[in-house]
Amino acid sequence: MPRLFLAVELPDETKEQLCKLRTDIPGARWVPANQLHLTLAFLGDVDVESMKRLVEKLADLRCPAFSLCLAEFGCFPNRKRPRVAWIGIRPEPLLMSLADRVREVVLSCEIPQEDRPFSPHITLARIKQAAGHDCDAFIAQTLGQEPALIPVQEFILFESRLSSSGALHIPLKSFKLATPE
Ligand code: 2AM
Repeated sequence: MPRLFLAVELPDETKEQLCKLRTDIPGARWVPANQLHLTLAFLGDVDVESMKRLVEKLADLRCPAFSLCLAEFGCFPNRKRPRVAWIGIRPEPLLMSLADRVREVVLSCEIPQEDRPFSPHITLARIKQAAGHDCDAFIAQTLGQEPALIPVQEFILFESRLSSSGALHIPLKSFKLATPE
């Protein structure tokens, strides 16, 4: 069964900008530039019939295009025992409602979703050992410039293939957002 997620792809220049934000966090595995993305929903292993139903329903979603804006830095679960270092995305209403509507469609296809609220972020690093490392320098940095608006005109269904050399993200289908006429 394919392991799937839905995400917003980022422009190359944003990926390059994000790679420059790497700091010295011991045990960090930095996400390669070509894999940086904003996850809307993680679906896990999905059977092919459910995937077909999901694709049909997502193609019928009518959500408006919008722009992303990078926000503050942070860590999950917290900065003293970081496992994931990320940059947040401003919770603009059109982004939040897209995530809500995507979640409704996913649930309607009987694909389970975690019960926690959508917290828009781009994972920059995964950190191996939880104990003893803090992300203070990472979090304290600034973008160094006013964050640009990143136009979003589609979102993508990705397959994530895991291997010993890391995950390979394969775009399967893109879903256009509505732009005003
Ligand atoms: P995140 O790091 O931005 O939260 C593809 O695996 C993507 O799905 C990951 O980059 C991750 O996005 C997200 N994801 C959310 N929950 C996951 C889980 N339980 N296992 C793997 N990926 C998950």
